[in-house]
Amino acid sequence: MNTALDDDLLTPEATADPYPLLDALREHDPVHWSADHRAWLLTRYDDVSAAFANKALSNDRVRPVRAARAARGETSDSAADRVLALMSEWMVVSDPPAHSRLRKLAAGAFKGQRISAMDASITALVDELIDAFTGGDLIAGVAYPLPATVIATMLGAPVADRDRFRDWSDELALVAFGGGGSDRHERALGGLHEMDAYFRSLIEQRRSEPGDDMLTAMMGTEQDDKLSDDELSAMCALLLFAGHETTTNSIANATLALLRRPDDLARLRRDPDLLNTTVEELLRFDGPIKVINRWVVDETEIRGRTISPGERVHLVLAAANRDPERFADPATVDIERSPNPHVAFGKGIHACIGAQLARMETRIAVGRIVSRLPDLALAAEPRWKPAVASRSLEALEVSV
Ligand code: HEM
Repeated sequence: MNTALDDDLLTPEATADPYPLLDALREHDPVHWSADHRAWLLTRYDDVSAAFANKALSNDRVRPVRAARAARGETSDSAADRVLALMSEWMVVSDPPAHSRLRKLAAGAFKGQRISAMDASITALVDELIDAFTGGDLIAGVAYPLPATVIATMLGAPVADRDRFRDWSDELALVAFGGGGSDRHERALGGLHEMDAYFRSLIEQRRSEPGDDMLTAMMGTEQDDKLSDDELSAMCALLLFAGHETTTNSIANATLALLRRPDDLARLRRDPDLLNTTVEELLRFDGPIKVINRWVVDETEIRGRTISPGERVHLVLAAANRDPERFADPATVDIERSPNPHVAFGKGIHACIGAQLARMETRIAVGRIVSRLPDLALAAEPRWKPAVASRSLEALEVSV
């Protein structure tokens, strides 16, 4: 075991550019115990891929946190615990069989939405945001408002309520990603109570007046199995949360990578047919999620290392996606790379259920940004947010 390697993903250097550190870990200690992160870091593509299918590694990671808090004597009626209770209903933090049931119901509803038919409405939304954008932070202007509005539309929320979705998503992120100050759970709880009440009243309305939206579809009126109101409300919150910051970052990180590569940007402008492979390549090259977490529930061995129950494993997607054993010239952007088996959306039973939608939003947003803003240029050196799990810009200041 190589404990001398730098493995702190939160230093200013690693925040600005995590890839040198991840390259060194992948090469010298691919199954690395990090005392700083109190987790094993898996950095090779093959190991990360195998971990997605390893039953010793569990997604049930909110319940253990609640149990540990209870064991420390922290009160169960605290704001933090109530937020954690809502999140523990989420399929992304559940194992089979609970996961299989929730996933099946959500997947059916997603299919019914005919994502491909949403092309025109998402394009109209992006164009509206670009029309109003006169330079400044492209995230605040375009990348941030888009995904929450799309989710709100899919769930069938009235247009006037859509701004509130963004605030709720931010509040969920405060808890899930551990940002914000010490009062973060209290602040989040206020918003999340409001959100829960909102979804419950929307659910009630749809019961008496079904629509062709995703919420109505998830109610499973003609199926034997149904989601309870608790589960439905938690599912709405999960879809909002999982699809918001990730998609914002996908649009922002992709746009930044293109602004830094004028030749690729010019090629893409000349040949918009390259948009698909460009988006895939930029998801691989600097995707929105650096790390996915798993809890160890049974002893397991990875590359000769014994991993014990109770420990945590970080599947470092950002490192797997630049593994030279899997990708030729991994540090180079090749906007025609094909095939491109990146793991930015995960793999296996929890693989991103919104991937088709996220790809479409990123493709439309990046495509319209580069074609409609021909003078787009960086106006300030962007800064990244310090975070273990996400790869997220503070702002993307541009001139147009
Ligand atoms: C570029 C944007 C996105 C990225 C990079 C991304 C990435 C991921 C990843 C890596 C996972 C696997 C988590 C795990 O294995 O523990 C995941 C799961 C999930 N994603 Fe996404 N996602 C994106 C957009 C979206 C959107 C737009 C939605 C919904 C509207 C969404 C909903 C979900 C849900 C519900 C899960 C949990 C699936 C399950 O547990 O079975 N995501 N996503």
